[in-house]
Amino acid sequence: MKAIVVTPMVANSLRIKEMDPPAVSKGQMLLNVQKVGICGTDRDIIAGFYGASPTGGDFLVLGHESLSRVAELGSGVRGFKPGDLVVPTVRRNCPENCLNCQNEESDMCLTGHYKEHGIKELHGFASEFAITDASFVVKLPESLIEVGILTEPLTIVEKGEIQTYLMQESRMKWKPKKALVLGAGPVGLLATTILRLRGLEVSTVATRSADSLKARLVQQTGAQYINAKETPLKEMEDEYDIVFEITGSPSVALEAQHLIKTNGVVCYLGIYKMQQDTEDAGKLFTDLVLGNRVHFGSVNANKTYFERSVNDLTKIKKKWPGFLEQIITRRAKMDDLTQAYQPENEEEIKTIIEIRTLM
Ligand code: BGC
Repeated sequence: MKAIVVTPMVANSLRIKEMDPPAVSKGQMLLNVQKVGICGTDRDIIAGFYGASPTGGDFLVLGHESLSRVAELGSGVRGFKPGDLVVPTVRRNCPENCLNCQNEESDMCLTGHYKEHGIKELHGFASEFAITDASFVVKLPESLIEVGILTEPLTIVEKGEIQTYLMQESRMKWKPKKALVLGAGPVGLLATTILRLRGLEVSTVATRSADSLKARLVQQTGAQYINAKETPLKEMEDEYDIVFEITGSPSVALEAQHLIKTNGVVCYLGIYKMQQDTEDAGKLFTDLVLGNRVHFGSVNANKTYFERSVNDLTKIKKKWPGFLEQIITRRAKMDDLTQAYQPENEEEIKTIIEIRTLM
């Protein structure tokens, strides 16, 4: 079978590799992979900044955003049948099986020795067949065949949103009204929908023009689109109960802290490049304390967020027809590899790779 692989930490080692299909063991599931999605993490792995091969190996199969059909079940696996439409989670427990990994919350792993499909020490799903532990897989209704590939990116938002509400509602009476989303890539657009589903007034900021696809998608959900080139963040008021920072830009992340009002919360979902800090740390921490503010980061997502994501994809599809389909701006084939992983044009939002013709 064909697989899309890299040599981790070696820039531009992206290639197709012929491999034997994996054999399924007890408790596992063989996946007949339909599609994989491409995100910034894949591009960082290809650029040689990130990623690790499975122990003893010298290559990594890419692909942590995926949509598959069940091909075969290992012994002892219940609740699935061949042909089911499924999405596996990304992270697997650490060998120490820490408190959180034991509790089905490997997204909160304490040791940092977790493994991640397609990212860290476990092959991903960008191959014709792939294998995973069946207890980390969620089932999707057939109605999500076109957009189910967005399940994993949506889980990142689900976790950020749930944790925001858990923290805020456990420390005070909280009736948020306004949310700000910084960034309108796939995760930013999905965050816009989830916050709108909560009934919030949402503003989403990006740098594309007001007639761009991103701006139009934001507006379709009833949210306001703000072009940061016309309205710099510095000129915006500290009027938001919730800010979701998804741009991954350290300077935008610093600005985000000045946009939440008293008792507000900033949730950081980007991966930030290290750089010299020029911020006045005294002001930052004083504002944090005097305003009872919360800043928190969130990464990865466990199975409960995947289940929420599947339900919410159905809700979004119903409430804003065509929205999810339009996020997928490019469908590449395995053979167009180099092109598939390069952002193509200004209107690009999410590229997916069709591993096989839909079945
Ligand atoms: C994935 C997460 C993963 C993170 C860090 C993200 O792109 O969506 O599942 O934990 O990268 O490796």
